[in-house]
Amino acid sequence: MDEASCKYHMIGGDGPNSYAHNSVYQKELIVSAEDLTNQLINSHLDTNKPPFDPRNTFRIADLGCSVGPNTFFAVENIIKSVENKYKKSNRTTQNPNINHQTPEFQVFFNDLVNNDFNTLFKNNLHTSKKSYFIAGVPGSFHSRLFPKESIHFAHCSTALHWLSRIPEEVRESGSMAWNKGRVHYFGAREEVKEVYSVRYKKDMDDFLSFRARELVDGGLMVMVVLGFPDGVVASESSMGVAFGVLGSCFEDLAKMGKISGEKVDSFNLPFYYPSPSELKALIEANGMFDIVRIAKLAAPMRVKPDPRIVTAHLRAVIGELIEEHFGSNGISIDELFKLHLQKVTNSPELFDEEYWKETNYFVFLKRK
Ligand SMILES: C[S@@+](CC[C@H](N)C(=O)[O-])C[C@H]1O[C@@H](n2cnc3c(N)ncnc32)[C@H](O)[C@@H]1O
Repeated sequence: MDEASCKYHMIGGDGPNSYAHNSVYQKELIVSAEDLTNQLINSHLDTNKPPFDPRNTFRIADLGCSVGPNTFFAVENIIKSVENKYKKSNRTTQNPNINHQTPEFQVFFNDLVNNDFNTLFKNNLHTSKKSYFIAGVPGSFHSRLFPKESIHFAHCSTALHWLSRIPEEVRESGSMAWNKGRVHYFGAREEVKEVYSVRYKKDMDDFLSFRARELVDGGLMVMVVLGFPDGVVASESSMGVAFGVLGSCFEDLAKMGKISGEKVDSFNLPFYYPSPSELKALIEANGMFDIVRIAKLAAPMRVKPDPRIVTAHLRAVIGELIEEHFGSNGISIDELFKLHLQKVTNSPELFDEEYWKETNYFVFLKRK
């Protein structure tokens, strides 16, 4: 299964299980990144450069945008910051030859081909202030998406932990990295984490190299990356507990004869969570960007997580992936997540601050 063929996308539409209604966590992250984004656009966007193009259009790409409304908050904040910077530059410039006229904005919303772009556009019409032109760009951000040097600002929030594919070794019974009985590398043998990490490095390198070609000289990029601080044992985190709960739900359904053990063993989540030093080393090794800032963001939803929200968020993100793997006749998604909710409700670690170790990193880059 690779990203071209699998359902690597959020639950679409506007229903109760949709991503649009179950993504407050991701929205809070976008909100907590706003101030830093504003400050750094103000200090690093160079409005003295000649007009970006003859039509004075400023192009923004949101990579892994999903269906909204979060993506609109993110891009509208970027637009506001860029406009402010132009207005400020206009007030302060003494040089009559430099025209800091505020550009027009074009926003490209990118996600995988199976993303529900119809809902995205409907949500955009209903919820956004619409001071910009929009276009959808289906395709993987691990590949080329835009003409060279055509984008001024790229944004990517809570999407880069998605690998382009699951490392094959984790499903091979003869491999040292065979991940039988687990849904993820958390708590597994070192070899399992290693093959996930190799895949992540390759994916991030591709992501950075393609963006470097697409961004203009001096173009800026913000990434919000879900990870773990250096030295933290991820299996002893609330995310580790949540993935363990998911694995035990599959085992229960297999014991009841509702799904095959083989299908359970071959199910692995395509996520990798780097530490900040790992991330920094990857960006430096790629060599195409200057790191302007890497900062820890405030942790979202840390006040008494509601078990129903924990389960609903997970379902909105991986529901399609599970159906794809088990086949829509092979598993009842409602039954699986009912069981998940029961187990989450009875997992006190999930509500214990000691386990809240996952951390989100804000990364601001400038193309060299
Ligand atoms: C958790 S959602 C985040 C959505 C949005 N950025 C937000 O903050 O609400 C992750 C998104 O990344 C998308 N995604 C995952 N891998 C991708 C890839 N290789 N290329 C483009 N989008 C991808 C998924 O389809 C999903 O919509």
